[in-house]
Amino acid sequence: MNQPNIALLASGNGSNVQAILQNIEQHHIHANVTCILTNVPNAGVIDVAKAFDVPLFVLNHKAYDTRAKYDAAMVKALKGLKTQWVVMAGWLRLVTASFIEAFEGQVLSIHPSLLPSFKGLHAIDQAFDYGVKITGCTVHWVVEKMDEGGILGQEAVFIDDGDTLASLTAKMHSAEHKLYSRVLAQILNANCQNGTD
Ligand code: GRF
Repeated sequence: MNQPNIALLASGNGSNVQAILQNIEQHHIHANVTCILTNVPNAGVIDVAKAFDVPLFVLNHKAYDTRAKYDAAMVKALKGLKTQWVVMAGWLRLVTASFIEAFEGQVLSIHPSLLPSFKGLHAIDQAFDYGVKITGCTVHWVVEKMDEGGILGQEAVFIDDGDTLASLTAKMHSAEHKLYSRVLAQILNANCQNGTD
């Protein structure tokens, strides 16, 4: 079976990356991971890459004077490994239209709110501070504008009276881990082709 080649992009702890890698190991998601790419030299996701023995690119955006040059460097690194799909999992940077076009639009991401509510940074805090009773997470296509791409899947998370920001954050992360792997399995497993590889 020819499995799609995916790269995982992350800027932080990498708990979403870890959940995806576990689901690939357990054959729930059919994919080859070409690499983990991070823009943050001391990000927690680096330890995840080591633990799963996945090729790692640390590409510090601060070393590039324009977004276009940085994205071109990412495209070069990812294409060099024959990456077909880009899976942003806690990736905290906007990308340019040319980056998205380079992967034929096969770029997806996760956001910790029920879009279109609470776009942008600190979405869990935004929902908690607003006082909504239901929030959740969204997996969506990536387009040039932040958090505006078509929705691929959502999972609701209830905010109970006793919840704190910390308990809500923990519930959100566990919902994200389930949702992302479910959506990736739906999309990527349908993109496997019969034949030998
Ligand atoms: C997640 O909540 C993700 O939705 C947001 O940043 C967080 C990253 O967490 N964009 P992790 O690095 O996957 O643990």
